[in-house]
Order: sequence, then C-alpha cells, then structure tokens
Amino acid sequence: MTSSLSIPVIVAPEALRAKIQDWRARGLKVALVPTMGALHEGHLTLVRRGLEQADRVVVSIFVNPTQFAPNEDFDAYPRRLDDDVALLSQAGASLVHAPTVETMYPQGFATRITVGGVSEGLCGVSRPGHFAGVATVVAKLLLRVLPDVALFGEKDYQQLQVIRRLALDLDIPVRIQGVATVREADGLALSSRNAYLSAAERAAAPALFRILSAMAENMAQGAGIAGQEEWGRRQIEAAGFGSIDYLETRHPDSLARLERLDGPGRILAAAHLGRTRLIDNVPVPSLNG
Ligand code: PAJ
Repeated sequence: MTSSLSIPVIVAPEALRAKIQDWRARGLKVALVPTMGALHEGHLTLVRRGLEQADRVVVSIFVNPTQFAPNEDFDAYPRRLDDDVALLSQAGASLVHAPTVETMYPQGFATRITVGGVSEGLCGVSRPGHFAGVATVVAKLLLRVLPDVALFGEKDYQQLQVIRRLALDLDIPVRIQGVATVREADGLALSSRNAYLSAAERAAAPALFRILSAMAENMAQGAGIAGQEEWGRRQIEAAGFGSIDYLETRHPDSLARLERLDGPGRILAAAHLGRTRLIDNVPVPSLNG
C-alpha cells in the first residue's frame, strides 16, 4: 500500500521485506527507527542520526498493544499517521512501516520475549509486562527489516538497555545506537504524552529534569547517593508532582543499583503529574573522570 504522500507506507511484512531486499541488492545500508507515532523532534532526531550512517531509513509506526497495561492509555494514545508521514518525508526517511495489530499478532500468535536483569526494577516494577511487550515487538521489527543500525532514544533509557541485551542475546546482527534525549528549551524531555498535560502541569513539568540535573551535579561533586535521592524526592513532591514511581541511581549499562559512585552512573525517575506519568534520566559523570 502506498500513501498519496511522498514516501511509501507499507503495512504487510512481505512487501516490506521485498523493498528492503531490493535496497540490499543495490548495496545500500539500512537504518531502522521504531516508533509509536505522534512524532516530535525527538523521533525526527533519530531519523536524522540514521541518515548520517545509512542510505535508507525505515521508520515503523505501531502503537503496540502488548506493552500497555489494561489501565494505561492504549486507546487514548495519539494517532496521526498522515501528519507523521509528512514529517518523515520532510526529514528524509525512506519509508514507513505501519503494520496493523492483525498483521503483527495474527491469530495464534504465542511468543513472548522476556529480557531478564535490565527489565527488572524501575519501569519493570511500575509497568509489569511492559518490557516483554517492547522486547517482543522490537525483535519482530528488527527481524522484519534486518537493519545495519537501529536507533533508540536515551529518553527511554531502560528500554534502550533492554533492547541492547535482546539484540546481543538473540544474535540479531544489528548495531543498537542510543541517541541523547531531545528537550524543550525549558528542559522538559519531548514526549508524545506531554500533550496530556494541562497548562499548569506543563509549567511544573520541567522541574523533573532540573532536579535530576542538580542531583547529578551534586553527586559528581561527592554528595552521597542516598542523601541526594531523598533530597530529590522531596523536591519533586514540592514541585507539584503526585506519586513518584521511582527515583534511583543505577549503573549506566547493567542498570544495577549503585550505593556509591565508583564510576559513571545514571539517575532515572518516573513520577506522576496529574494523570500523566513522566519519565526522565540524566548521566552522572564519573567522580574521577
Ligand atoms: P515511542 O515512545 O514512540 O518512541 C520511539 C523512539 O523515540 C524511542 O527510541 C524513544 O526513546 C525515542 N524518543 C522519544 N522521545 C525522545 C526524546 N525526547 N529524545 C530522544 N528520543 C526520544 O519507545 C517506543 O515508542 C516504543 O516502546 C517502541 C520502541 C517503538 C516499541 O513499541
């Protein structure tokens, strides 16, 4: 199926594979950017990074039902394929893969990929089953496209580490590239879910990044992790957030809990602002580095 806009929108995996085989036969390098649509500058930055290293960039748009819990926003999640395709055409993407739920999970579908270790804790606690849903759909997308490189945002830092582990463990021959979080001028990480925020919530939201950044700076200057996490929690509550799902300092690769900083760290947080759940994370530079 081809849309009337300038780049093709392919639904069926067979048609996708044929197109990619054609590129491969011509010696072209292929990048993949998996998304759930409602695209913003963060997604488009992944596309641009892809274009720096590949001749063709495939963007998948699929609101994946298996990574949403029943109480989450699957139905409300914004869907605007035509706008997304127009943005992707402008950004230089080569094609959009927009599978339907039925083509992704046909009758009888029974496989689920669980990535141990890095999926546990953090969002793995507040969103049980989420990373199995992500890992399964991303494995399918990687196998459909078999790209040279696939790009993922550090905005979803735990997801990035889950996908790195998945590709390594399943011998999927792809380079997984992380891309730094793209932010609004006031520091708020771009997210399709920011559209849910009321004006007052939007005004409060950048506090999350400010607080995480202050914690990272304090830790880099020798402040203890436990004290900083406690301080951060109080600040996030004072900024108007409701419940905090987590605020933790972890090893940047293994995501193992850190009690003290012997090297680099990553501070990760998820907190609720009204009905919206925001996540963010920042690096903590190594004390001696
Ligand atoms: P989605 O939330 O649409 O994000 C698609 C990709 O864009 C992810 O790699 C995400 O980390 C990245 N991204 C989102 N906001 C960003 C920002 N502000 N800066 C940089 N990158 C950003 O993540 C998913 O979809 C899904 O879980 C998916 C991987 C597609 C599997 O269904």
